[in-house]
Amino acid sequence: MINIKILIATVKREMGENIANCLKENGFTGITVVTGSDEVLPCAGRENPGLAILDVNLSPVDGFQLCKAVKDGAGGHGEGLPVVLLTDAPVTDETSQRAAFVNASGILRMPFLPEALLLQVYKCGASGLSSRLAVSESRCRSLVNGMIDGALLLDSKGRVVLINKAGEEALHLLGAKRTNDGAIVSINAIHLEEMRREISASKQGYVSLKMNTVGNNEKQFMVTASVAAGVDAREPVGVVITMRDVTRDNLLQGQNVKSERLHAAKNLVAGAAHELNNPLAGIQLCTELVLGDQAVSEKTKKHLSRIQKESEQIQAVVKSLLTLTGNYTLSKEPLNVNEIIEDIVIPKASQFEYANISFVKCLDEQLPIICADKNQMRRVFTNIIENACASMAETNTERRLTVRTGKQGESVKITISDTGPGIPREYLPKIFEPFFSAKDYKKSKERGLGLSIAYSIVNQHNGSISADSEVGKGATFVIELPID
Ligand SMILES: Nc1ncnc2c1ncn2[C@@H]1O[C@H](COP(=O)(O)OP(=O)(O)OP(=O)(O)O)[C@@H](O)[C@H]1O
Ligand SMILES: [Mg+2]
Repeated sequence: MINIKILIATVKREMGENIANCLKENGFTGITVVTGSDEVLPCAGRENPGLAILDVNLSPVDGFQLCKAVKDGAGGHGEGLPVVLLTDAPVTDETSQRAAFVNASGILRMPFLPEALLLQVYKCGASGLSSRLAVSESRCRSLVNGMIDGALLLDSKGRVVLINKAGEEALHLLGAKRTNDGAIVSINAIHLEEMRREISASKQGYVSLKMNTVGNNEKQFMVTASVAAGVDAREPVGVVITMRDVTRDNLLQGQNVKSERLHAAKNLVAGAAHELNNPLAGIQLCTELVLGDQAVSEKTKKHLSRIQKESEQIQAVVKSLLTLTGNYTLSKEPLNVNEIIEDIVIPKASQFEYANISFVKCLDEQLPIICADKNQMRRVFTNIIENACASMAETNTERRLTVRTGKQGESVKITISDTGPGIPREYLPKIFEPFFSAKDYKKSKERGLGLSIAYSIVNQHNGSISADSEVGKGATFVIELPID
């Protein structure tokens, strides 16, 4: 049995059937005979033959023209199909030239000798098959190499039959172990045999495993292994493995969960802060009334003053929480950031002197005016400057606070740096989160809200805020606010 599909197109059906019978007697199967020229291309597209035998006398489109169309893959069957032309006239020079012009693989004179037919079919069939095989192999390679995921096909002994570049890299990152002859023994310490067992035990016919890379380059891969069926029943089955780098997906998923949680927490906090405001106002009013009463003893007044002070603190926290959750309306006005900085630092001159902090200001006199909420901006810079001063109180080296302003692109950029102990690398991603504080809660009043409030305010102004630091060398905060 010879497994090649042949399309025969002749003017007379009888002629086509004769050729088909001769081929069938010699072991060929999958033969289709058509008679009209208009049937050739649709049939080629449908059957995807490995060889076409075309009568030059076909009409209205003759065999030469059809040969060209078939060779060009006009039926949607792929290019390069070998074609043998049939002619009942003597093969003249002109016929040979025309045949060569349309790239026919051979010419067969009718009535045909079975040997001549078979010779043409074998010759064209073999060359056609090998060129089609080469095309399909190169397509297969392009597919595998074009994949972003690592892909490899292993034979029954674990030897690599096909692998792409991403696959080579992934195997290396996942610490795959190989035998001397290159067969894969394990990937990420999981034995190939174990994978095979899990595949056969699974209902879906594949197994998916999360793997972390070995070495410094920390990445996560999703590795899927499934059975690679052999071409026929005698061929033992191999394994197909795909390896997808899911590091970024995991990160994004984690960030989404985090931002959803943050959103829920913000709503909760905003609700609670709002509910606390009213009873708090009641406590403050009553305390003030009782304090004003002449009949109240000095001892009671002392207690009441304490209540008043504590409730003021609660009110400050509630206000901070409302700011943090963005539950306030910005009252924007044209603003010169330099003036705000001056307003904050001038009253602090004696504090700086007392704490031995030298203050360096490099304010751009041409700084563009921005449109922002003055009070909220004061909070942003105050919070950052207070953190800087507090951090420098912990050091005995030179204490220097530097504030720079300038125009950068379409923004005003403010840089605040100190020479304090700096922020440990592991804290940097957390400092803008609410309630993150490295300070001891019991010893200080800090609640870890200052920077998260600053972040929320800058965010509401469509600006950005970031921090950089090297432990032992201080910290730098950069704020950028758009010039409207
Ligand atoms: N300039 C700085 N140098 C070193 N660490 C800093 C600096 N600024 C902030 N940090 C770190 O970031 C943390 C968070 O700062 P944030 O202002 O949000 O909270 P806090 O100062 O602890 O409390 P709060 O500001 O609410 O009173 C601080 O506890 C500190 O560890
Ligand atoms: Mg602070």
